Amino acid sequence: KCINIASIPGDGIGREVVPQAERVLKAVAEVHGGLDFQFRSFPWSCEYYLEHGVMMPEDGLEQLKPHDAIFLGAVGNQHLVPDHISLWGLLIQIRREFEQSINMRPAKQLAGIQSPLLNPKDFDLVVIRENSEGEYSSIGGRIHQNEDEVAIQNAVFTRKGTERPMRYAFELAAKRRGHVTSATKSNGIVYSMPFWDQVFEEVSQEYPSIKTDSQHIDALAAFFVTKPAAFDVIVASNLFGDILTDIGAAIMGSIGIAPAANINVNGKYPSMFEPVHGSAPDIVGKGLANPIGQIWTAKMMLDHFGEAELGTYLLDAIESVTAKGIVTADLGGSYSTEDVTNAIIEEVKRK
Ligand code: NAI
Ligand code: MG
Repeated sequence: KCINIASIPGDGIGREVVPQAERVLKAVAEVHGGLDFQFRSFPWSCEYYLEHGVMMPEDGLEQLKPHDAIFLGAVGNQHLVPDHISLWGLLIQIRREFEQSINMRPAKQLAGIQSPLLNPKDFDLVVIRENSEGEYSSIGGRIHQNEDEVAIQNAVFTRKGTERPMRYAFELAAKRRGHVTSATKSNGIVYSMPFWDQVFEEVSQEYPSIKTDSQHIDALAAFFVTKPAAFDVIVASNLFGDILTDIGAAIMGSIGIAPAANINVNGKYPSMFEPVHGSAPDIVGKGLANPIGQIWTAKMMLDHFGEAELGTYLLDAIESVTAKGIVTADLGGSYSTEDVTNAIIEEVKRK
């Protein structure tokens, strides 16, 4: 089975961690005969913008479309190009045009890694964030440029757009520990959130074996810090999911290990896999970038292609390495990007 991947290393440390994660995937393929990865690299980035005046060519999306998946590092460098140009010219266009309506972000305590939680217990959760509508809409406006100025921002919740991440969450929970938590705020937001609760209730009827609960987002944010082990799969709207997933990255111990996937559920377009972190211009070129976020993201890509067993195998290899304390400076270690990758590859080949 040959999997064709469009790689976009992008900017900053994206260019350091993407090639390392590709090496790991090649090693996984070597160990597991019958699987092969072909990478085609695209140079789209802020530097590309400075040379060409655009973040990607006009037919960029057409070029990406025939691939099985997009593997992205990070985009953006405020010193070269304003963020709204670089992110909207590439990342956000791909997410929108390729209908990547679900953003999936796991958070799990890895062996040997000190979590900043006061009372860390093994936690292993996944946030499913609605990625295309909700609070992040372009409907609204501003009126009166005087002391009576008003800004109005509408949230849009369609039935399809609400059911989609919920079904995804239930299907995922069925393969995990069978528990879905809905992030709501129906005690304060009187139209969209009661609708959200109603759809959650309806979708949950289709999955009688899955345990459900519903938590207000403020309490849920606190529980992520005080008892993250209580959660399995959490489904959230665009804004609530955005906030929860950053907490998820924080409780793991470093943003440098947090993975993410933007999923196209209708199968019409490729999905995009990218770590949570950005281009980290402050550490670029020093060998300090933690490659685990990008490598764990590659694991999510394996899961996506129905290779969940291989995905687990890769995550086990990552944990064997973190358990030995072979980690980069963000986790208190003194190993380089390449050292950590080499150790993971050794583990992959050893088993
Ligand atoms: P950032 O995630 O790049 O960096 C935040 C902090 O975390 C920095 O101190 C950095 O050194 C550290 N860090 C991040 N990744 C790390 C890793 N793998 N290993 C070790 N340390 C790591 O966020 P920041 O500084 O706000 O953004 C920098 C640029 O990246 C901006 O242009 C921003 O727009 C862009 N960005 C792009 C994203 C994407 O492509 N999806 C996501 C977030 C930011
Ligand atoms: Mg965020």
